[in-house]
Amino acid sequence: MSDYAVRAEGLEKRYGEKRALDGFDLAVREGTVHGLLGPNGAGKTTAVRILSTLVKLDGGSARVAGVDVASRPAEVRARIGLTGQYAALDEVLTGRQNLEMFGRLFHLGGRRARLRATELLEQFDLTDAAGKGVGQYSGGMRRRLDLAASMILTPAVLFLDEPTTGLDPRGRGEVWDSVRALVAGGTTVLLTTQYLEEADKLASHITVIDQGRAIADDTPDGLKNRVGGDRIEVVVAERADVARAVKVVARVSDGEPESDETELRVHAPVTDRVAALTEVARTLQDEGVRVEDIGLRRPSLDDVFLRLTGHRTDAADDDTKEVAA
Ligand SMILES: Nc1ncnc2c1ncn2[C@@H]1O[C@H](COP(=O)(O)OP(=O)(O)OP(=O)(O)O)[C@@H](O)[C@H]1O
Ligand SMILES: [Mg+2]
Repeated sequence: MSDYAVRAEGLEKRYGEKRALDGFDLAVREGTVHGLLGPNGAGKTTAVRILSTLVKLDGGSARVAGVDVASRPAEVRARIGLTGQYAALDEVLTGRQNLEMFGRLFHLGGRRARLRATELLEQFDLTDAAGKGVGQYSGGMRRRLDLAASMILTPAVLFLDEPTTGLDPRGRGEVWDSVRALVAGGTTVLLTTQYLEEADKLASHITVIDQGRAIADDTPDGLKNRVGGDRIEVVVAERADVARAVKVVARVSDGEPESDETELRVHAPVTDRVAALTEVARTLQDEGVRVEDIGLRRPSLDDVFLRLTGHRTDAADDDTKEVAA
């Protein structure tokens, strides 16, 4: 009836005093990857749990694949797949045995379970590893097997909660390829992530969530356009030179330069890109300022995030982070 695979309006979920979701809205178009992006504790997993009927909502309403989650949860469950951060794979069994086991759990019957396992191993590029114990799989292979397991019944909507957290870049790329293949096959994917790059690469639409509410909803480019155009960025070698770099950059920029005293970084919006770059590089050299790095860059989703929420993502903070909440 609608073009939306997921539609949520005014979702509320409270845990004691804590409002995990506080009027959360979401609309996911059929046949797309939709990114749900937000910092730790924003409410991403809570939203996924409600939409996949694992948790009851306290207010608002949601339909998944056209079915109301509150009144017809069993029908919703028949139409979805869910992959969490922690896969329920059996280490001792082979990849194929795991998939056959899931198939039987879903009442496929031995023969159909075997056929489906073969198809999925092929689709997720695991045929060669099918006979190996999962204990020997790499992180990327495990996540792919986990994805395959959630696809046993060919769900209309697949929820992926941080599917690549903890993977190295290669494993991440492999999972991305699998997700793209799924969507090409007609599945709608709602993907939560703390990696902006991941949302940027995979999602055609992104909802940014913070403190239980959607604070932005747009295409990746649309989000980036909100922060403005190109910026010039200079990293100096010494803290004492930051103020000098600010002055030099200010001469060519369209707005106030911003500086970061810790990273020794100065950046500002520019329109005449190449002229600005040349001018700044030359002036800094003339003034004897040692430059570590200089360049032009387009706004990243990270900039968007900072602008919208007032803080960087946890992924971006990871380098400096000492404690986890
Ligand atoms: N079962 C629970 N009991 C109490 N509080 C909870 C429970 N589940 C979530 N919360 C709280 O609700 C808020 C939202 O949590 P949620 O797990 O949905 O965030 P998230 O966006 O998935 O975060 P992360 O990026 O860390 O996975 C947090 O403040 C969290 O502490
Ligand atoms: Mg979570």
